[in-house]
Amino acid sequence: MKILSVVGARPNFVKMAPLARQFEKKGFTHVLVHTGQHYDYNMSNVFFKDLDLPNPDKHLGVGSGTHGVQTGRMMAELEKELLEESPDLTLVVGDVNSTLAAAIASVKLGIPVAHVEAGYRSFDMHMPEEINRVLVDRISQLLFAPTENAVLNLMNESMRRESIHFVGNIMIEALLGNIEKAEDSQILKNLELAKGEYFVATIHRPHNVQKENLKLILEMLSDAPLPVVFPAHPRTREAISRYGLDDVMTEQIMIIKALGYLDFIALLSSAAGVMTDSGGVQEEALVLKIPCLTLRETTERIETVRAGANRLCGLDREKVRTGLREALENQWRFEIPLFWDNRVSERIADVIEQEDFSIPGHSML
Ligand code: UD1
Repeated sequence: MKILSVVGARPNFVKMAPLARQFEKKGFTHVLVHTGQHYDYNMSNVFFKDLDLPNPDKHLGVGSGTHGVQTGRMMAELEKELLEESPDLTLVVGDVNSTLAAAIASVKLGIPVAHVEAGYRSFDMHMPEEINRVLVDRISQLLFAPTENAVLNLMNESMRRESIHFVGNIMIEALLGNIEKAEDSQILKNLELAKGEYFVATIHRPHNVQKENLKLILEMLSDAPLPVVFPAHPRTREAISRYGLDDVMTEQIMIIKALGYLDFIALLSSAAGVMTDSGGVQEEALVLKIPCLTLRETTERIETVRAGANRLCGLDREKVRTGLREALENQWRFEIPLFWDNRVSERIADVIEQEDFSIPGHSML
């Protein structure tokens, strides 16, 4: 069995770590390709180090660009790799542009695609990630769903039932496998913070870094009843400077550079609550039992809301204010969804092992 996996952006690296380990255990031949979508040390390299992820076999160095340019370059480069390696299966994770590029390049060469984290839907086609999710699922032959609701979404879109496998949440397997290691992080000590005495914020969605929205968010963070640690994505940092918003931030906001995986997990797990527009952070917060306020109108991680752990606040000042107050009053539930455990990669590898990729027509959609 030869699998070619493609990663490119921060959340991909986290999801790939348990899979790479499991594939090695199974004795699969595994080729890891990094598109280079994320390239800064603290957006990429530190994740490989923190997660013990093997160095990529190939690094395509694609970098930033408009969606068309970035995705197109990745497809052109990935096509060459796929032709050279000729894997039995291409594996993609999540919903970033690297995921879409790899799925399209692969399926057009007749190489079947497995999508890990299939079936999440925000039903908001203004989000680039939602477009990526819908398209990747449509052209994948193996759909590995993280939740029961994701299975339903796939069935509602008339995906073949035999393609859909409910395996659980790979992000959570990574989290559970690293919580102990994260206890050694010095981040709280370095920032002179004490457990439960600060909030965390992560903001990077294009919608939220537009001038007026970003200004409103910074005002909301400044209003928080506790200090807010804000590890900023490079784009967010750049937007704050470009729009001259440094003055909007009071001393209540502690802006720092984007953190590596272990430091971020350590920071999150001791926080009084988190405000975020990230997908993965909503899930991590639930499992770590940290109240989460999502600064978006929709979420594809609907289970986190149903579990009682996450509230959709959009950019509504009043909802955020109430949410932060209630986060301090412990009025939150944290019900862990089924299969958000440490055996997700094993379920995925078992399914892959049982597939017979030599059957002619296997790659037919
Ligand atoms: C991507 C994903 C998003 C994910 C996020 C995690 C897509 C469509 N979106 O968004 O789902 O939540 O990664 O971080 O794929 N930049 C740097 N250094 C880097 C990487 C990016 O400065 O290492 C800058 C780029 O120059 C660009 C901006 O950040 O201006 C956006 O980068 P890009 O990779 O296009 O998407 P993200 O917004 O990071």
